[in-house]
Amino acid sequence: MKEEIVKTLAAEALVVRDNAYAPYSQYHVGAAVISEKGIIYRGVNVENSSYGGTVCAERNAIFAAVTAEGTSMRLAGVAVATSSSPPAAPCGLCLQVIAEFCEDEMPVFLVNDRNEITQKKFGDLLPVSFRPHMLKKS
Ligand code: THU
Repeated sequence: MKEEIVKTLAAEALVVRDNAYAPYSQYHVGAAVISEKGIIYRGVNVENSSYGGTVCAERNAIFAAVTAEGTSMRLAGVAVATSSSPPAAPCGLCLQVIAEFCEDEMPVFLVNDRNEITQKKFGDLLPVSFRPHMLKKS
């Protein structure tokens, strides 16, 4: 992925993080995903007083992408912004949702509010995943 796009994606994740609704954990997360069409979608964590109703930033960004592009939406890159150092990786549930829409080679950029950035391959974050084709009858 071009350096300019990486910078944009990381910056978008950091900026949108300001909109996180996290009154319970105080842990603010922003996510920006870019689809193969080259369009960027954003998401933040949205918590709920019934804690199980909370949805992570990554999933909110991906759901926005699918809402806009429909079933053909494929991810080309994901950036997640937190205050953690080293920058935090997506949770297991979000990795499973990301797996639905990407290849193992897709880059995941982990960033924080100190402008630290770590790049991972999706397949290194979730090496063995459950994928849509596994539901096909043999
Ligand atoms: N959170 C995310 O938004 N993404 C993750 O990958 C991990 C956790 C949120 C959920 C909750 O609002 C807060 O961070 C603390 O777990």
